Amino acid sequence: MRTHTLLSMTLLGLLLWASCSRADDTEPSQAETQEDTSKESTEETSAEEEETKETPEKEKTTEIEEDKDVMILHINNFARALSENQYLLVEFYAPWCGHCKKLEPVYAEAAGKLKEEKEEAAGIRLAKVDVIEEKELGDEFEIGSFPTLKLFINGDRKQPLDFSGKRTAEGMVQWLKRRAGPGVPVLDSADSAAQFIDSHNITVVGFFDNLESEEAKVFKELAFDFTDSEFAVSAIPEVFQKYEVKANSVVLFKKFDEGRADFSLSEEGKLDKTNLTAFIKENSMELIIPFSQENADKIFSSSIKIHSLLFINSSVKSQTALLDESRTIAKEFKGKMLFVVLDVTEAMTHVLDYFGVSEKDAPTARVINMETGKKFNIDSGDLNINSIRQLCLDVLEGTAKPYFKSEEIPEDWNKGPVKVLVAKNFESVALDPTKNVFVEFSHA
Ligand SMILES: *[C@@H]1O[C@H](CO)[C@@H](O)[C@H](O)[C@H]1NC(C)=O
Ligand SMILES: *[C@@H]1O[C@H](CO)[C@@H](O)[C@H](O)[C@H]1NC(C)=O
Ligand SMILES: *[C@@H]1O[C@H](CO)[C@@H](O)[C@H](O)[C@H]1NC(C)=O
Repeated sequence: MRTHTLLSMTLLGLLLWASCSRADDTEPSQAETQEDTSKESTEETSAEEEETKETPEKEKTTEIEEDKDVMILHINNFARALSENQYLLVEFYAPWCGHCKKLEPVYAEAAGKLKEEKEEAAGIRLAKVDVIEEKELGDEFEIGSFPTLKLFINGDRKQPLDFSGKRTAEGMVQWLKRRAGPGVPVLDSADSAAQFIDSHNITVVGFFDNLESEEAKVFKELAFDFTDSEFAVSAIPEVFQKYEVKANSVVLFKKFDEGRADFSLSEEGKLDKTNLTAFIKENSMELIIPFSQENADKIFSSSIKIHSLLFINSSVKSQTALLDESRTIAKEFKGKMLFVVLDVTEAMTHVLDYFGVSEKDAPTARVINMETGKKFNIDSGDLNINSIRQLCLDVLEGTAKPYFKSEEIPEDWNKGPVKVLVAKNFESVALDPTKNVFVEFSHA
C-alpha cells in the first residue's frame, strides 16, 4: 500500500501547489509551504485591514513598459493596453508565489513566440499584473489565487475569459491562436469534407441541421480547448449522407485503429460538454498508447481509471508480436480499460521503479486501478494473450488478487523524473474540467 500512499500524497501535494492562495499575501514567509497553501482561499484578509497598509508611491503613467516581451500593467496603463490589443492575456501574480515564479519563464517564452509569429498571432499580446502592488486591479477581477490568467477580447473589461489551455509556452500559443482564429470551419460540400478529414490525423466533425443551435454552440466552444485536434461543422444533407449520419451527431475521424468513432447525443438530443470531452479524449488515443512524457497527460487525465500496462523490449521480435496481438484485447476492453505500452529500451528507470518492474522483467504486464491504487500482475512464465485477457476480466469482475511490491520503492523516487513527469502532466490536468481525477486520488 505504501506506493499508493506515496502516489496520493505526491498528487495531493501537486494539487495544492498548482496555485498560491490569496489568503497568503500577508504571510509571505510561509507562503511556500504546503500546509499554508492548503488553507481555504476564503480566509482572505478583510478589506479594511488591507487598506491601512502603506505602499510606497511610484510614478505610474499610461506608458507601458515590457519585461521580456511581457507588458507590465498597472492601474494607470491597463485601459490603454486593453484598447490597443485585441487579444490580451493577463497574468495576475504575486511576486512571492512559487507557482508564479515557475510560470514566469514559460510565460515569457510564449510572449516571444507570439512576437515571432507576427502574422498568425496578430493582435495577441501577453501582459502581467502584480496583484500585491495593484490591489485595485486584483479586486476588480476578483483574483483569489495566483497565478490567474485571463484573456481580454476586444477591450472588454467586464467579461474576460479564464485561460483553460496547457500551461506550457506551446500550449498557451496554441490556445490563444485558436481563440483569435477564424473559428470552426464550415464544410459545405462532400468534397470539402473529404479533403478536411483527409488532411489531418484526427478530426472531429459536428453534423447539425442548424449551425446556431445550442448543440452546435457547445461543439464550437469545445473546439477552443482541444487545440490538438481539428474541428469542423456541417449542415449539408449531402455531407450527412456521405458519412452515414443523421443531423445532430458528432463523429471523430482518425487515421489509425478503427478509423472513426460516433458520439451519441442524449435521447433528448442534448450535447453534453463533459461527455463529449471524455469521448474525444478517449477516442483520440490509440488502442494501445505508447507511454511517453507527451502522452502521460492523456493517460493520467483519462476518465478510464483501470490501466493495463504492457512492458516490452522493442528490439525483441516476440515481444513486439505480443504487443500486436494485444490489440485485440485492447479493442475488447475499450471504454473499460486503458491499454498502455512501455518500452524498456527507452531509459525510464524511475517509471519502471514506480511500477516495481525492472528492465529484465520484460515482457511483463501489470494492471493498475488508479482509483484504489491496487496493482495486479501475471506470473512471468504465464504471460500470453490468454493470461492477459483473463487478468483483465478478473480485475473488472473484482476477483483478481492485488499484488503489492512495496519493498522496492527507491528512497528518492519522488526526487527523480517520475515526480517531474507527474508534475508536468499535472499542470495541464489541473486546468482541465476533468480534474476530479486527482481529487479522487487524494481521498484514496
Ligand atoms: C499523423 O500521424 C503520423 C504517425 O503517428 C505522424 O507521423 C504524422 O506527423 C501525423 N500527421 C499530422 C498531420 O499530424
Ligand atoms: C452523459 O453521460 C452519462 C454517462 O454515460 C449519461 O448517463 C448521461 O445521460 C449523458 N448526458 C447527456 C446529456 O448525454
Ligand atoms: C533488449 O533486448 C536486446 C536484445 O535481446 C538486448 O540486447 C537489450 O539489452 C535489451 N534491452 C533492455 C533495456 O533490456
